[in-house]
Amino acid sequence: MTSVAQAQPNIALIKYWGKRDHVNNLPAVSSLSVTLESLWTRMSVEFRESGGPDTLQVNEADAPAMLKRVSHCLDLVAGKQRPGADVISESNFPIGAGLASSASAFAALVVAAERELGGVRGPLDLARLAGGSSGSAARSLFGGIVELTAGDKEINVETVCECADWPLEVIVAITAKDPKPVSSGEAMVRGENTSPFYSSWLLKQDDDLRTARRGVVDRDFAKLAAVAEHNCLKMHSVMWTSKPPIVYWNSATLSCLETVRALQSDGLPVFFTMDAGPQVKAVCLPEAAAAVASALENTPGVMGTMQSSLGPGARPVETE
Ligand code: PMV
Repeated sequence: MTSVAQAQPNIALIKYWGKRDHVNNLPAVSSLSVTLESLWTRMSVEFRESGGPDTLQVNEADAPAMLKRVSHCLDLVAGKQRPGADVISESNFPIGAGLASSASAFAALVVAAERELGGVRGPLDLARLAGGSSGSAARSLFGGIVELTAGDKEINVETVCECADWPLEVIVAITAKDPKPVSSGEAMVRGENTSPFYSSWLLKQDDDLRTARRGVVDRDFAKLAAVAEHNCLKMHSVMWTSKPPIVYWNSATLSCLETVRALQSDGLPVFFTMDAGPQVKAVCLPEAAAAVASALENTPGVMGTMQSSLGPGARPVETE
């Protein structure tokens, strides 16, 4: 039997950057994100009767470089004594380019593997397992606006606002399609060890999260916008001041920020955020989406845009 699951990437508005426990991959800080709808990863998992090593195909090509992380994730779900697995992954957006493809991949993987095992673990348990492979993946088990609380021993994850209760739109401006030069995992360790800003990043995270949560509860877009941009720029400041520095931006990234600033000056409800890559994500209210998409589309260096509403958490896909 083969089990299939689908998950969407999520975009953090209050970022996860840094780990408190490297062995268990526990985040140093809590975070808040939006789960997308129209970008997706589908994972199919089949445990073989016979032994043999795991296999992985990503978008119809063998992917040996990613196999180790996938096998580790399957160990977390099924135990180390599990049989070998054949895993097939398919995404409808560029992977490894700062679009949170590892979040959707590992969220879909844990759901597919659990189904293949016939297990009954719910989203929180599966989020904790996905988080063992990619900290941000834990959030993609849930839909809408999602908060991840970082504890000393484990994380908690929950939806704090359903999609329908605040229908935000996200426009992604693609400014490069190459895989990122430094993985987020490696970049985080470097930041923890070398950035003089890392300690102050940790210190103010709970304040930022509280402000963002208030913005969500009150549907106060301006409040959420201000704290999300501030938090994103702080995370990038940690990256920039790591030794050696990590700068994921390119000139088109900066042009997109100028575009968003110009839209804001015109009174449009929109803000930017960026992750471990050069893509810019603009979050806006639905009435501004068409103008934001067209302005980003026409920004120098932008190769294309993708638009998404907020969507549900990872779930099994029924097959014949
Ligand atoms: O889950 P990881 O290890 O790929 O780290 C993701 C980190 C950021 O995307 C930059 C921020 C976040 O909270 O998603």
